[in-house]
This record gives sequence, structure tokens and C-alpha cells, in this order.
Amino acid sequence: MKIDKLFDVRGHVVFVTGAASGLGFGMAEVMADNGATVMMTDVDADGLAKAAASLRERGLAVEEAVVDVADLPALTAAIDDTAARHGRLDVAFANAGISAGPGYGTEKGQMNAVSLDDWNRVVHINLTSIFETIRAAAAHMKRQKSGRIVITSSIAGVGSEHMVGYAYAATKAAVNNLVRQASQELAAYNVMVNSIAPGPFRTNIGNGRLNDPEVVKQFAEIVPLGRLAEVDEIKGLALLLASPASSFITGTVIPIDGGATA
Ligand SMILES: NC(=O)c1ccc[n+]([C@@H]2O[C@H](COP(=O)([O-])OP(=O)(O)OC[C@H]3O[C@@H](n4cnc5c(N)ncnc54)[C@H](O)[C@@H]3O)[C@@H](O)[C@H]2O)c1
Repeated sequence: MKIDKLFDVRGHVVFVTGAASGLGFGMAEVMADNGATVMMTDVDADGLAKAAASLRERGLAVEEAVVDVADLPALTAAIDDTAARHGRLDVAFANAGISAGPGYGTEKGQMNAVSLDDWNRVVHINLTSIFETIRAAAAHMKRQKSGRIVITSSIAGVGSEHMVGYAYAATKAAVNNLVRQASQELAAYNVMVNSIAPGPFRTNIGNGRLNDPEVVKQFAEIVPLGRLAEVDEIKGLALLLASPASSFITGTVIPIDGGATA
């Protein structure tokens, strides 16, 4: 089979959370660049407007809606609306997520410094909202008996990671098992559910924490390739998991980490 059939997502309807920046923007861009219609959603209205405009100016088929994934009814309504207007939903990227601050490697990230309010906020956005995204997308995909759901997890959900906060590590591990669980229920409907587990990528996560050269140096040290990844480097795996090329891949957690978990 030739490349244009293997990775053909032309005309696919795609929903992305956290699409204004970083990995979500990369996912939206690669899908739109390859002919999909992409609904970009984010809580950051200004960032979203700029991000969507930058793709639309290139003639790509993108739409946008301000959606806070923490608002579960609004999240479900946005997914339902996208599916209703296009008559289908082919791919959902449950990508939006937030940092829980530094990890146990510094005093500020050690367990006694963790506030339960912060813990609950991270659990709600990084875990509960991901479940709700899967559930809302699956309702449409089950009906049409096809679909792809791709979660953005982290290598911090695969093993311990001294640079990230407790709630982050716990929620990223939880979504990896959520993906395995959902993949079993949804396999009967030809809906694939997979998790991308990135190592450090240069994005705006953690209020620009990755602009700090010391933080970048520490993250680079855990990566055998010796550097952080750029956003463009998520695109190949995102396209693979959304395209016909991955028709027999479901229930997996795929690291993309420069060898960090090897
Ligand atoms: N950058 C990394 O090194 C890295 C590594 C592993 C996993 N991840 C994961 O990748 C995903 C994307 O993060 P990123 O690194 O691209 O960060 P980013 O901050 O550049 O992008 C995240 C986007 O999500 C949006 N967002 C945040 N809270 C939201 C909410 N409540 N509702 C809707 N949108 C919301 C932000 O406005 C932002 O546009 C996250 O799930 C993150 O945990 C990132």
C-alpha cells in the first residue's frame, strides 16, 4: 500500500482539546495539513483564535471553539455539536492537560508541600476530563462503528519522574490504564483507543517552565538523545494513530521520548 492510502485522513472530522498551543496544536496542524477538518478547542480564547487563524490563513479546514475541559457538560456539548454538524466524528485527541508543578526532586514538589486543592484540580483536568472526552467521542464512534481516540499521557505515567509533581504522575498513569480499559469495551465497535506518552517536548506547559535553561538541562539529562523534542516531532505518531496505517493498534501506550524509558 502506498503512503497516500496508508495515512489518508482526507475528509476526516477531528476534535482536539488543548489545541491552541504545544502538542495539541501540532496534532491539529498535522491533521489539517493532510486534509482533515479539525475542530480546535482550548480554554485560552486569544491563543486559540491566533492558532486557528494561522492554519486557516494557509487554506486549511479548521474550526474553533473555546472549551474548558474542566466544564464537563460544555466539553460533551462541543463534541456533540461537532459530530452533529458534520454528521460524524472520526478522531478525538484528548490532549489538554496541566502541570502539577515541580516534582520530588525539589522541596516545593515533595509530598508535604502538595495542596489538596491543587491535587484535585489536576485530577479533574488530567483524568476526569480525559474520561469525559473518551466517553463523549465514543458515543458517536460506536454508532458509526469506526473511530480513533488518542490520549496525551506522559512518560511520567509509565514510571517515576523526579521533575514532575505527584498529581501529574498519578493522573498520567491513570489515563494509561483508562485507555487500556476503554480499548477493550470499544473494540467491538471498531474504535481504537491509544495513548501517546511523550518525554520532554518544548511547549508552554507549566507557565513556560520549559523556557528556564536549568529546567531544560535537567529534562535533557533524562533523555538519551540529549535534548528536548520540538512540537513537530509529535506529528508522525499522531497521524499514525489517527490513520488507516494503525488499523490493528489499540489499547497501547506508546512512548515518544528519545529513549528515556528504554
Ligand atoms: N511538553 C511536554 O514535555 C509534555 C510531556 C508529556 C506530556 N505532555 C502532555 O501534553 C499535553 C499538552 O501539553 P503541552 O506540553 O502541549 O502544553 P501547552 O501548555 O503548550 O499546551 C496545552 C494547551 O492546553 C490548554 N489547556 C489547559 N487547560 C485547559 C483546560 N482546562 N481546558 C482546555 N484547554 C486547556 C492550554 O491553554 C494550552 O493551549 C498535556 O496533556 C501534557 O500533560 C507534555
